[in-house]
Amino acid sequence: MTNIILFGPPGSGKGTQATKLAEKYNLIHISTGDLFRYEMGNDTPLGLEAKSFIDKGELVPDSVTIGMLENKMNKHPEANGFILDGFPRTIKQSEALDEIFANKNMAISALLSLDVNKEELVKRLLERGKTSGRADDVDPEIISNRISVYHEQTAPVYNYYDKKDLSKTIDGIGSIEEIFDRLCNAISA
Ligand code: C5P
Ligand code: MG
Repeated sequence: MTNIILFGPPGSGKGTQATKLAEKYNLIHISTGDLFRYEMGNDTPLGLEAKSFIDKGELVPDSVTIGMLENKMNKHPEANGFILDGFPRTIKQSEALDEIFANKNMAISALLSLDVNKEELVKRLLERGKTSGRADDVDPEIISNRISVYHEQTAPVYNYYDKKDLSKTIDGIGSIEEIFDRLCNAISA
């Protein structure tokens, strides 16, 4: 069983690469951001709660996000493995994830972190904002806040898994295929 955390700042290419990796390795792709956007699109209570944080570029409270992730994983008992895109984003989420996996007798295989500089991230997010319909991709201040939140609350997750010898940094600059090859090489290694 292969369970990958695809890690990196907003705009680093997690969604694009997770989709490709899920197909190649037959994994269930879980994007917590996409799950929130689905709930927001349907105006559910969860969506309305999440929206107040997402529109500002802040993180949704851990208990909400962890519950949603666990629910989604539980819907796939047949899974060959998971690729988590956008989760965990805090140390609390990492600890909860370890517990969820331990209870299922499963383990994280690797955390792969896409390394992209801030200038390129802002450029990509503004470009995506032209068509994504995402309010958080349009305003440069919100984009900047998302990147700050990443450095303050999410970056420590890399070290958390590095201590378990699971973290690896992947150069996230290049063509989609080049980056995909780097990720596949890291998974095979
Ligand atoms: O992963 P993605 O960039 O699509 O997430 C969009 C937004 O959803 C984040 O900026 C954040 O507000 C929220 N989110 C969160 N916690 C997560 C994943 C996403 O708060 N684990
Ligand atoms: Mg994404």
